[in-house]
Amino acid sequence: MAPVSDPSSFSSLSKCATKHLNLIYHVDFDRHVLKGKVALTVEVLEDKFASLTLDSKDLKIFKVSANGQVVQFALGTKHKFKGSPLEITLPFELSRGQHVIVEIEYETSPSATALQWLTPKQTAGKKHPYLFSQCQAIHCRTMVPCQDTPSVKHTYYAQVSVPRELVALMSALHDGQEPDPSDSNRVIYRFRQPVPMPSYLIAIVVGALESREIGPRSRVWSEKEYVDEAAFEFSETETMLKTAESLAGPYVWGQYDLLVLPPSFPCGGMENPCLTFVTPTVLAGDRSLAGVIAHEISHSWTGNLVTNRTWEHSWLNEGHTVYIERMIARCMESEQLRQFEGIGGWKELQESVKEFGPNNVLTNLVTNLHEVDTDEAFSFVPYEKGFALLYHLEELMGGPEVFMGFVKSYIQLFAYGSVTTEEWKNYLFTYFKDKVDILNKVDWNGWMHTPGMPPVKPQYDTTMADACTALCQRWVKAKEEDLASFTEADVKKLNSPQLIEFVALLLQEEPLPLSHVKKMQEVYQLNSVKNTEVRFRWLRICVRAHWEEAVPLALKMATEQGRMKFTRPLFREVYNFSKYSDEAVKTFKEHRAALHPVTAMLVAKDLKIDG
Ligand code: BES
Ligand code: ZN
Repeated sequence: MAPVSDPSSFSSLSKCATKHLNLIYHVDFDRHVLKGKVALTVEVLEDKFASLTLDSKDLKIFKVSANGQVVQFALGTKHKFKGSPLEITLPFELSRGQHVIVEIEYETSPSATALQWLTPKQTAGKKHPYLFSQCQAIHCRTMVPCQDTPSVKHTYYAQVSVPRELVALMSALHDGQEPDPSDSNRVIYRFRQPVPMPSYLIAIVVGALESREIGPRSRVWSEKEYVDEAAFEFSETETMLKTAESLAGPYVWGQYDLLVLPPSFPCGGMENPCLTFVTPTVLAGDRSLAGVIAHEISHSWTGNLVTNRTWEHSWLNEGHTVYIERMIARCMESEQLRQFEGIGGWKELQESVKEFGPNNVLTNLVTNLHEVDTDEAFSFVPYEKGFALLYHLEELMGGPEVFMGFVKSYIQLFAYGSVTTEEWKNYLFTYFKDKVDILNKVDWNGWMHTPGMPPVKPQYDTTMADACTALCQRWVKAKEEDLASFTEADVKKLNSPQLIEFVALLLQEEPLPLSHVKKMQEVYQLNSVKNTEVRFRWLRICVRAHWEEAVPLALKMATEQGRMKFTRPLFREVYNFSKYSDEAVKTFKEHRAALHPVTAMLVAKDLKIDG
């Protein structure tokens, strides 16, 4: 393994590595804190080992011991997003190969960025509070003091005490439950994760949850209000798992459950092992749901089994995952659908590059995250530049079967480990040793270390995309007198992904005249479309055309759900309509307390509100 350093972590990486984490939580809904006790089993990697540094952020540390002996500790100065290094000094020296158990008693802060505490009013059932976590990329340290870096992998065991009317779940296998011996109103849930995984995959949820079986290794969990609909919508899960296994190798995590969260969940999906978290916004959304689940399932191999060494290499996680996700679409639907998704992805990449600016180094495939907040660096670049590179290589190396052979072999080789781009590339050259002359012609520096669009645009089959492009162009070119030619039949010919693509294409064009947008509403009735992927783009089109009636609808969508992919652009769009900038700011401030902490931080930045 190459020397390890991670610009997003303060923890000691070259001198020790966590092997196992034993976690005890008491969930306090009154104070919005987790009272915790964690025991880290740490392997020593150097001689004369007598101190170590862990990551922590906004934690109250009460006591630290090592091998049962109370030891000294100090919290360093707080860094804005990295938090405070927790420096632990041992009263003894250890040598390379030995292990030490470091035990920490602590408490989280009510403003922990990994956690959102919902009041009963913010839940579907309205009766019970709810708690969920989102640790990726560097928020685990607000929940557990640890080596919060994807370069370290460990197993974990956890015991969580919650009020007895609630259920706790974690990103692990269930290991039973029992009444809390210290409080008859509480229950303890136990979990075990026997597969080594990085800290960002630790996840917890507590709420009035129910479940339904949806397959031999899958249940769907949610508040009871969503559970039947969810069970119906996710019925393809086992077929997808089998398809993914046929492509990438055996699924090693045992269970694959899904949890449908309340609407403020900031992501579309999160690949927490054994328990994928998904936004409820996919429920009203036919095909967009299949994409999200195929994506999170694919992370079981690329991300969770083979992990990016640091977040600078996050394209290894997201690019390969999008590649496998689209291979699943190819197997379960058609090659044409995969090609169509490739076109959509390229367009998404163009949008990201436009937003960051074509010279912004955050549009490099491999980024430099020294003093960069991973939340602010987030974009579709690692997903879509990553996918484009892999698809380009697929074209050069001999097609989807040949290239998927490489991806599968890469997974096998690096399973249970963490990799860098250089290691990936070396293995690519080893695997395709007979085609090295072709690989040597690839503009690697252009693809990996240069901002903006990639040096080569891959070729995609446009069969499914043509109808979308044609309809978009008809609207863009239409003069007032042409508007009468549009009818409901135009969109009736499009399937659901094509309708999404059509509005996405319109959004890429110059703003349409207001008369066009009003006419579009009259003939296509897009205001009543429930699919959130369509609705969010449509509302942006309307606001951009300065249709004032769309402003309250856009702000409503921005606040009724909190998926960052929707909420941030919707707020930004209204804010950019100068007449309504103040309205956007006012609405944000009114809802701020109910928003997820990371979403609130980023929207505040977008709307140039400080503090
Ligand atoms: N792991 C990501 C979510 C994530 C990325 C959380 C970076 C925090 C930091 C997840 O797999 C993902 O990519 N989700 C997408 C949906 C997917 C279908 C592209 C999302 O949340 O929109
Ligand atoms: Zn992903």
